Amino acid sequence: MSDQHSFETLAIHAGNTADPLTGAVVPPIYQVSTYKQDGVGGLRGGYEYSRSANPTRTALEDNLAALEGGRRGLAFASGLAAEDCLLRTLLTPGDHVVIPNDAYGGTFRLFAKVVSRWGVEFSVADTSDVSAVREAITPRTKAIWVETPSNPLLGITDIAAIADVARSAGVRLVVDNTFASPYLQQPLALGADVVVHSTTKYMGGHSDVVGGALIVNDPGLAEELAYHQNAMGAVAGPFDAWLVLRGIKTLAVRMDRHSENATKIADLLTRHPKVTQVLYPGLPEHAGHEVAAKQMRAFGGMVSFRVAGGEEAAVQVCNRAELFTLGESLGGVESLVEHPGRMTHASAAGSPLEVPADLVRLSVGIESADDLIADLTQALG
Ligand SMILES: Cc1ncc(COP(=O)(O)O)c(C=O)c1O
Repeated sequence: MSDQHSFETLAIHAGNTADPLTGAVVPPIYQVSTYKQDGVGGLRGGYEYSRSANPTRTALEDNLAALEGGRRGLAFASGLAAEDCLLRTLLTPGDHVVIPNDAYGGTFRLFAKVVSRWGVEFSVADTSDVSAVREAITPRTKAIWVETPSNPLLGITDIAAIADVARSAGVRLVVDNTFASPYLQQPLALGADVVVHSTTKYMGGHSDVVGGALIVNDPGLAEELAYHQNAMGAVAGPFDAWLVLRGIKTLAVRMDRHSENATKIADLLTRHPKVTQVLYPGLPEHAGHEVAAKQMRAFGGMVSFRVAGGEEAAVQVCNRAELFTLGESLGGVESLVEHPGRMTHASAAGSPLEVPADLVRLSVGIESADDLIADLTQALG
């Protein structure tokens, strides 16, 4: 499949070659652990054991690489498994990483509770402030980690500007592209070295699979990551890979609708008397609006807002919502609502990444915007 094709075409065709045996137009789920060899070492098609490689996973990995404009994609059992593999590939004891002051709580927990135990240090910086990132770099810094838009405060980081900082300091730039998806934003083209995904979210798109991915351009780094992926073993299983590959086919149309619906919801919330602040990069008053407009095709489906009356009022909005399902995760076709302080970001309590107690986070789905607005209006009372 030529890289010249448009995103929508690549999403459906890249990696999805017809099955050579039967002509099946959808790659089969190769639910298999091992492969018959024609004499010792005589591999048919290069597959020997499904932790090392599996044809369904290869189809997804080739598709991911094409969508992010990278040379190599690697699919993992979860987003955190992908992050773990990346960190253990890039870092050794004594190394230092600059991490954002707003990010998924589990990513922060990985740094604070796991990676730090191997002697890796990190500093927290506001990555929307280029000079703050520059100042946080030390002689031991090996990577800058960015999440944009960020979870759950929807902060925006200028990827190209931070890529310049990373390049001149000789460190790698990692961008978690989960909230945007490659349809809305392509970090490698903006100078990032590694793209991270929780494919559990928009890539899968249907709240039916947990998965993760890394996409890179540098052939040396690709080899090292593939080596560690096999050596550590937290790979995506064939059925999970197949579900993500299937979800990706509708990514473009879903992201357009998520973005349209979220824009309407953000507009409603800005006018609601019980809402004290709306965090959505599509709003002109959002601090990162200009940068988001420059580096994103649209502003995505995630909206957070703060509720007058504090924590209990925010929790009540979550509890009263009906069409918005109360639950963790995001990026599925169905709308979700959650209280980050008590749910997804509870592990960041007491840290520089602690989230406001009056915050509600919405993953705006692709249902009718009118129905979603009616539900939010009743939930806000
Ligand atoms: C931005 C972001 N990155 C990474 C992860 C971790 O992914 P997973 O839950 O698939 O391990 C999440 C999960 O919510 C996330 O929101």
